Amino acid sequence: MGKVHVLDHPLIQHKVTYIRDKQTGTKEFRELVDEVAMLMAFEITRNLPLQEKTIETPVMEAQSQVLAGKKIGLIPILRAGLGMVDGMLKLIPAARVGHVGLYRDPETLKPHEYYLKLPSDIEERELIVIDPMLATGGSANDAIHSLKKRGAKQIRLMCLVAAPEGVEVIQNDHPDVDIFLAALDDKLNDHGYIVPGLGDAGDRLYGTK
Ligand code: URA
Repeated sequence: MGKVHVLDHPLIQHKVTYIRDKQTGTKEFRELVDEVAMLMAFEITRNLPLQEKTIETPVMEAQSQVLAGKKIGLIPILRAGLGMVDGMLKLIPAARVGHVGLYRDPETLKPHEYYLKLPSDIEERELIVIDPMLATGGSANDAIHSLKKRGAKQIRLMCLVAAPEGVEVIQNDHPDVDIFLAALDDKLNDHGYIVPGLGDAGDRLYGTK
């Protein structure tokens, strides 16, 4: 079963408190999400493989370490996922970015993928799917299925806030996918919002209603 990592670094937790606060306006919300995404990138990439490299310091030849060429792909789910991409790219500037847009047909309840653009070599990349709010888990679950169908082999899921219901869906359907969260909340309410949550992440990021 995929592991759930709640990233409880004090800086992340502090910023998440202000992200949750309904008094926080769009500009500050966006900045905080960007900062949390950057801090989360630091933790998510903790186990990337390293390799030795010989360099010349001004003093002598030395053996040092560089990333072992592991290629990363960021896959934000539209639209709220976009809010975390720039923060991630500050620490992983060479990552490629693919985009997934989906909605559930209200009648058939089947996922409808209205947009998909991926790096050509996703099977060689460590993919990080970005879905800030893991509520029912439907979108992240469908996006991961879609990536696997196209050859993806290594996938991690990154969320700002998750409900236990969404975590369970991903763990059942994708036991190979580790989940990285800033917070694991109590539950979903009757309207599908995460409780206590932060409201609609897309609306708060982009100032829509
Ligand atoms: N999507 C959101 O943006 N917020 C929630 O609480 C649940 C889903």
